[in-house]
Amino acid sequence: MIEGKMVNLRAAEMTDLERDFRWMNDREVTEHLSMRYPLSLAAEEVWMREGASKPMAYGAELFFAIDTKDGEHIGNISFHEMSAEKRKARLGIVIGDKAYWSKGYGTDTMLTFLRFAFDEMNFHRIDLTVDAANLRAIACYRKCGFVEEARMRQAGFTRGSFGDQFVMGILRHEFYAQHGTTSGEEAAS
Ligand SMILES: CC(C)(COP(=O)(O)OP(=O)(O)OC[C@H]1O[C@@H](n2cnc3c(N)ncnc32)[C@H](O)[C@@H]1OP(=O)(O)O)[C@@H](O)C(=O)NCCC(=O)NCCS
Repeated sequence: MIEGKMVNLRAAEMTDLERDFRWMNDREVTEHLSMRYPLSLAAEEVWMREGASKPMAYGAELFFAIDTKDGEHIGNISFHEMSAEKRKARLGIVIGDKAYWSKGYGTDTMLTFLRFAFDEMNFHRIDLTVDAANLRAIACYRKCGFVEEARMRQAGFTRGSFGDQFVMGILRHEFYAQHGTTSGEEAAS
């Protein structure tokens, strides 16, 4: 388990299935995710079984469940498109329980996950794409130190219209400069 200030990050369990299924079928939660089709419980179960039955390791995807300090499962965070050579990964996050939006849980989750990425996985760069209209997510990412690197015009399409998307990224030394190194040593690039 990886401990943050407000959350703990842990391996996904099959007991998370029903919540994940509910969140992934909630149109408000998925509005800015690349999910447009309803998801069956069977499909979600296959996907979860595949992930939860293997030990976590560097590979195609790394997936963590987000718990509050009271043990309430409120969302998930993951790395995909990992590259050992480039030491980079793409990040995805969802706080599925809407009661926890805009209360700092996303920011603490991101900071906890980024520290793990840089301290333990030795990544050099983490990036993500986000809808330009997803103002809450952008505010959260900026607080963590992500910067907008590119604007992809009309790259998204949802609810009948095209929308711009940003690529946002953060480098290891930028994270350490803003949030401190774990060792206390000076940040090196
Ligand atoms: C995006 C998400 C992870 C952010 O997590 P969160 O816990 O809600 O975010 P936080 O509370 O840590 O930070 C959000 C910030 O945005 C601010 N905010 C909220 N709505 C906003 C808006 N419409 N415009 C600008 N800022 C806004 C909040 O006030 C907060 O800033 P503050 O702490 O300075 O007050 C979460 O809302 C979520 O999972 N949403 C649904 C799925 C999603 O969009 N995932 C990201 C896809 S790229």
